[in-house]
Amino acid sequence: MLDHLIANNRAWSERKKSVDHGFFRRLERQQAPKYLWIGCADSRVPANEIVGLDPGELFVHRNVANLAPPQDANYLSVLQFAVDVLKVQHIIVVGHYGCGGVAAAVDGHRRGLVDHWLHPIREVHRTHRDELAAIADDKARLDRLCELNVIHQVHNVASDVFVQDAWARGQTLAVHGWVYSLSNGLVKDLKVTVGNASDFEKLG
Ligand code: CO
Repeated sequence: MLDHLIANNRAWSERKKSVDHGFFRRLERQQAPKYLWIGCADSRVPANEIVGLDPGELFVHRNVANLAPPQDANYLSVLQFAVDVLKVQHIIVVGHYGCGGVAAAVDGHRRGLVDHWLHPIREVHRTHRDELAAIADDKARLDRLCELNVIHQVHNVASDVFVQDAWARGQTLAVHGWVYSLSNGLVKDLKVTVGNASDFEKLG
């Protein structure tokens, strides 16, 4: 049933090797990505493809609604490995407009476990309820919530002890917030980059 996927894989591997004979052998020895991508699990937001990076160039963590919850062992393990071992120079939290996870967090329907996972987004919604209530258009309001969620996740990452300790050691590391548009394939930089501990303090 998955023969077409195996066939695609064979063809992809051959294409890679035809352009660069040692490609896989080189990657087998080590990975040295400069970037950690924290994005949504949505199938329409394929991390490497969007930013034109090859295998080996982007360390990726994806979950529903691109969250960075301070008690999530999965995310924390990825973050620590990326910062302490790989020494990535950039962490990019990437949300996307039209995120089903963000919409589901605030639509009032009950779905089960995922309602707990999405709890941080309801907190973001509550924190910014006046700003959001002033946006009349439903889609525009949810899109703004997608942006605010990214900003809060950037704050979570920048305040994490792994990141704070890296800055204290003098390690080069910046945390960025982007939102991807499903309608045109473009990312927007939300200009909330935090590049050191004093940047973070200024956020208040
Ligand atoms: Co999403």
